[in-house]
Amino acid sequence: MNQDLLRISEIMLKKTNRNVSSLNIDFFKNTINDRQLKCGIKTVSEYINFLENDINEINALSQQLSNTTSQFFRDDLTFSLLEYTLLPHLIIQHDKKREIRVWSTACALGQEPYSVAILLEELQGKLGTIIPYRIFGTDISEYALTQAQKGIYDFNDVEKAKLKVVEHYFTKKDKSYFLNDSVKKHVHFSKLDLVDENSLHPIDGIYGGFDLIFCCNVLIYYQPKQQRLIIDKLIGALAVNGFLIIGEAERLLVTHHDQLKHLGFNTSIFQRKSRKSE
Ligand SMILES: C[S@@+](CC[C@H](N)C(=O)[O-])C[C@H]1O[C@@H](n2cnc3c(N)ncnc32)[C@H](O)[C@@H]1O
Repeated sequence: MNQDLLRISEIMLKKTNRNVSSLNIDFFKNTINDRQLKCGIKTVSEYINFLENDINEINALSQQLSNTTSQFFRDDLTFSLLEYTLLPHLIIQHDKKREIRVWSTACALGQEPYSVAILLEELQGKLGTIIPYRIFGTDISEYALTQAQKGIYDFNDVEKAKLKVVEHYFTKKDKSYFLNDSVKKHVHFSKLDLVDENSLHPIDGIYGGFDLIFCCNVLIYYQPKQQRLIIDKLIGALAVNGFLIIGEAERLLVTHHDQLKHLGFNTSIFQRKSRKSE
């Protein structure tokens, strides 16, 4: 990392308490170039001076370094397999004395954990039974978490959801889609930095392993050392035989992990091996 990026990392650590020095260098550089353009500043050293003295720019850079792009039911294959195979399997297999536990580790504005809650609500209706479950959504961005708790979306967020799902679980007002409380109440949001070695899992999720963990479209923003740290952390938090879902572009990062079995079918879904086969 060059001196300019190091200086920007120091400023960001001091002002936002986030360590951005572990981000993928190309992503970091491109984001700085983009901020310079948007601010009409020609050189990096001028940008650094500006950044040091402008809290609005600190916030803008911080937000752009957390790309929060997401959607309900974002990856077609993953969500089809969840709906028709994985969640029914988890419901049949799970110990009736304990809830099904899901963790969306970089949940953006909540679209991913809420999609799972909707699928579980639908399955409860189909099976005519109550399924105890708890979903945790964590993210490093406070802005994203505040928005997630509000549960207000626009058309782009919901366009991949089935029409009957949108009609049943959202209330449309003008151009906004308000997620109903019946879904919102199942998801617990909290701030968690995946790269922080001291934060292992959501603070209120300490009891037992997770049956399903999502880590989608976040590993790509980090350097290999941090990618390994995150993957090991997630495997540690996963129940034996639990499922880990990774972003399509990140699949190769875990394909050969000795504690994971790839489910195949061109998916980005992995299962934690049972102790016998470890
Ligand atoms: C592109 S979004 C992915 C959202 C969702 N998982 C999906 O695939 O649709 C990336 C998210 O990762 C979050 N993020 C980036 N670094 C993080 C970290 N170290 N710990 C937790 N979340 C992080 C960002 O704030 C952003 O909300």
